Amino acid sequence: MQSQIKKNSTKYIDVKRFGLVLIGIGLGVIFWILESAIHVLVFQQVDFMQQLYGPEPHEVWMRLTIVGMFVVFGMYSQMIVNSRRKAEKTSQFANIELAQIFETAADAMRVVDREFNVIRVNETFSTLSGMRREEIIGEKCFKVLHGPLCGTPDCPLAQILDNENRVEIDSEKTRSDGSKIPCIITATPFRGPDGTLIGIVEDFKDITDRKKSERELIESRGKLRDLAAHLQVIREQERARIAHEIHDELGQALTALKMDVHWIRRKLPESEFGLVEKTITMSALIDGTVSSVQRIISKLHPRLLYDFGLSAAIEWQIDEFVKRTGIQCDIDLGSVDIDPDEARSLAIYRIFQETLTNITRHADATRVRVGLINNGTTIEMKVSDNGKGISGNRLSDSQSFGIIGMRERAHSFGGNLVITKARGEGTTVVVTIPIDRNGEDG
Ligand SMILES: Nc1ncnc2c1ncn2[C@@H]1O[C@H](COP(=O)(O)OP(=O)(O)OP(=O)(O)O)[C@@H](O)[C@H]1O
Ligand SMILES: [Mg+2]
Repeated sequence: MQSQIKKNSTKYIDVKRFGLVLIGIGLGVIFWILESAIHVLVFQQVDFMQQLYGPEPHEVWMRLTIVGMFVVFGMYSQMIVNSRRKAEKTSQFANIELAQIFETAADAMRVVDREFNVIRVNETFSTLSGMRREEIIGEKCFKVLHGPLCGTPDCPLAQILDNENRVEIDSEKTRSDGSKIPCIITATPFRGPDGTLIGIVEDFKDITDRKKSERELIESRGKLRDLAAHLQVIREQERARIAHEIHDELGQALTALKMDVHWIRRKLPESEFGLVEKTITMSALIDGTVSSVQRIISKLHPRLLYDFGLSAAIEWQIDEFVKRTGIQCDIDLGSVDIDPDEARSLAIYRIFQETLTNITRHADATRVRVGLINNGTTIEMKVSDNGKGISGNRLSDSQSFGIIGMRERAHSFGGNLVITKARGEGTTVVVTIPIDRNGEDG
């Protein structure tokens, strides 16, 4: 059926597409007939049929030229008309397409003129503002879905009128029932074909869900941080308890043992050379065990830190580190009294311990620099090594629990920890923790 219609339509000439060409041909034919008639009636020449079908050669040339001009003019005009029709159709199509996009956009959209009158809104805007479209159109924009920036120089519309090309702000908008909605508003100029500013197009993205998720995320992060800090406190208390128990139980037992060995030695006659020798070895072993126990205790609960302060504890830790690893260490502990309260001192000390452990285990360094500065409001510790340098992905790795623990310790006091790989070589750890001037921090 369809192919039948198509077949029939090809029999006729499309008048819409070729109308002016046909008019040109028609005018040419009329001109030819008129010219023939004029020759008979005005110039009294031989009969009309001969003028029509067999005019003089010069006459044929003249008529053909004029008829040709008619036809060419018809074709040219037709071409212009056709391309204009095509442009109109394309523009109509684009307008419909734009109107559909505007109407069905997931974001609320509004167009205002230069005097801030609303000239167009989409359905989403009407729903978001809680007003009907008829109530909105013609109203001033600052009366519909208004926000705290309306009427201020920061108003995105004012900025667009000041020649900005795009303004994006995060603001809270008020609906007709007084409820507030957090939105991201993007304003762009609405220009005419000659580039003059006609108005402003605004796009409102409702970010209520995003804001809620952000709040929940911040809350849950805060809780996790509190939990981590609490676990650190419990861990330190547990370490201190174990240290005390080791000190009381093992320390006393070892002291008693040493005294007993001493007593036996005194009782032994000098002739019992083998037994005397044995008591000397036992005594040395007990001494070695006592130092190991002391080392374990000070690792668990750094008494030195509580008795002599952070700088002393750090110096002692560096001595131990140099003795154990043979790595050269330069210290700059500044001249000021650098000891903050116990909790902060312990946090910095534990970070320092982890930093040295990491250098021993991973850095392949031969030299370490340690600096501790107290500027009155913050305490900053900087530890640099000249080793192979930490890799970027290890820094952000969720499995780098040592680094995460250091960061959390710093964060729990409102401070921060930055680890960088130097351009040449090595790794630098900088921890900054705020302190109270009067020592009333908590
Ligand atoms: N000073 C350093 N130089 C080179 N690489 C380092 C340095 N410090 C840390 N790293 C790298 O960062 C990684 C993460 O360190 P992190 O302290 O978090 O974990 P770890 O030392 O491997 O294990 P642990 O949980 O016992 O501390 C290390 O495995 C190591 O590859
Ligand atoms: Mg580590």
